Amino acid sequence: MPNRPIGIFDSGIGGLTVANAIKKAMPNERLIYLGDTAHLPYGDKSADAIRYFSIRISKFLLEHDCKMIVIACHSASSAAYDVLMDFYDQKVLFVNVVDELVSTVIDNNYNKVGVIATKATIRSNVYETKIKEQNTSVECANLATPLLVPMIEEGFHQGKVSHDIIAHYLSDKRLSGIEAILLACTHFPLIKTHVAEYFDHKVDVLDSTDIIAKEVYRRLEEKKLLNTEGQGKDAFYVTDFTQSFADTTKLFYNDLVNLKEASLW
Ligand code: DGL
Repeated sequence: MPNRPIGIFDSGIGGLTVANAIKKAMPNERLIYLGDTAHLPYGDKSADAIRYFSIRISKFLLEHDCKMIVIACHSASSAAYDVLMDFYDQKVLFVNVVDELVSTVIDNNYNKVGVIATKATIRSNVYETKIKEQNTSVECANLATPLLVPMIEEGFHQGKVSHDIIAHYLSDKRLSGIEAILLACTHFPLIKTHVAEYFDHKVDVLDSTDIIAKEVYRRLEEKKLLNTEGQGKDAFYVTDFTQSFADTTKLFYNDLVNLKEASLW
């Protein structure tokens, strides 16, 4: 039924950047968002732990009758997409944030791209693997940039501190000669302009907000599951509520978010 909600999950509230893009592109869609704040950050977790969390969260979203599950978190998309497809593919549509960025790299015929992400995403090597599956000649420079996540969450993404940290990471020699950089983390759309400025706007900066919203639209349209009625309210859950999480939502989502706790664990 088209009026069923879209489930979106992330390790925390950063995935609201993806939810925001989906809501903007498809205001009629009803969203159920789940941030697994009890286990934040996923970027430091093992792939097995992330898989375990992601399976349980998907079960929660299925219990809420979601027609589609968007894995907004890059660390979870890297570690858990395959296992979620094995578990639930027959029951729900899945969209992950990795594949669309990879397709964009292939479509644009880049020779060399950079990837910045959490340790978990970089350790999985998912971007390089998937890019090379489609074009072996694309060079991929992978860089874990773990300090950027807490920096953004604490609101330090617009001043000298962030400028210096971003410049420190991006000056890494491995990134020299890149034509595009993939912001492979939920939080990084907030520093997109700074990254573009660092490279003097000579490098394409790709993130997974509008690209994912487009893919969500395409998949729903293909399955005739687009919601044309626009009934029902969005719901935003975290697995561990604190006021600080509630306050931080405004960094990532344009509208007011009424955060509720879901007891999954
Ligand atoms: N959501 C994570 C990601 O996109 C970043 C935050 C975390 O490490 O949990 O990889």
